[in-house]
Amino acid sequence: MASPLKSLIYDDDRYQKSFKLFLERSSEHQCMRDFIHNSLPDILASVGNRKSQLNVIGVGSGEGIVDLEMLSQLCQKHPGVLVDNEVVEPSSQQLYKYKVMVAQKPDLEHITFTWNKMTASEFEEQWRQKNITKKADFIHMLQMLYYVKDPGATISFFRSLLDKNGKLLIILVSGESGWGKLWRTFRSQLCNTEISQCVTTADIKSLLDAHGVPYQSYELQSHMDITECFTEGDQTGELLLDFLTEVLDFSRTASPELRQGVLRLLRDSQCSVETGGRVLFNNNLGVIVLDALS
Ligand SMILES: C[S@@+](CC[C@H](N)C(=O)[O-])C[C@H]1O[C@@H](n2cnc3c(N)ncnc32)[C@H](O)[C@@H]1O
Repeated sequence: MASPLKSLIYDDDRYQKSFKLFLERSSEHQCMRDFIHNSLPDILASVGNRKSQLNVIGVGSGEGIVDLEMLSQLCQKHPGVLVDNEVVEPSSQQLYKYKVMVAQKPDLEHITFTWNKMTASEFEEQWRQKNITKKADFIHMLQMLYYVKDPGATISFFRSLLDKNGKLLIILVSGESGWGKLWRTFRSQLCNTEISQCVTTADIKSLLDAHGVPYQSYELQSHMDITECFTEGDQTGELLLDFLTEVLDFSRTASPELRQGVLRLLRDSQCSVETGGRVLFNNNLGVIVLDALS
């Protein structure tokens, strides 16, 4: 049964506010950064096959902080190359912040940015309509596959754009994270069927395994401080709860039973640990890397 609750993604202002708070309260970007510095360089070493220009597509880039770190690693691995970077991001607020950051940052003159203020499926439609034949060397979709209707089809489309030696990088919450437990328990009550929403890397791996698609995978340790969620009426806690449940105004719109059930599970040792008076939710991420179709 589809959830009658309204998804947070349909209120961009509140979504971006809660996402910002989530980033402040979690080690999300730090663990991505560690991955980008420690593992990504080897993954990127083989892309492009000595071409003088590398084509990159970022899908759901947000304000681009992590994208620029990945681009920096790409350029370090391939000194002197030109980079053509297509950014696909539907939020005008996020795109604006990304553009401001690019305008202020030195040393980006060898990268050209094409701004696509649109969703992944609108980008796909545009690509097909214009019959574009350009191939990509590196495509990434970090924490965005929750917001497409059919993650398998989205992965297939973007993978089909990869050039020989190209890589597609996907990051989502791990199936073993607190998110996985929360969604397995409350999927029918929280998740909207118009978008995939409650998807983890475990779901994507099952899908790839079923189709015999090979991939590399990594697990990244991360946590999120959700202590305020347990103080009724606390505004920070309510925003965090919206982000955790992906429901707009969860505290006010969910039934008391659902609210209590979610809060109980969030505090349970299946999802969180309590340390020094703080409740730390398991925000472990999974990384999946795909090669081009052979
Ligand atoms: C959780 S944020 C991740 C942002 C960034 N990749 C990061 O990891 O910091 C998800 C991003 O996906 C964007 N998004 C939402 N729906 C999308 C869609 N259908 N296609 C592409 N991007 C989408 C949102 O606007 C948001 O910037």
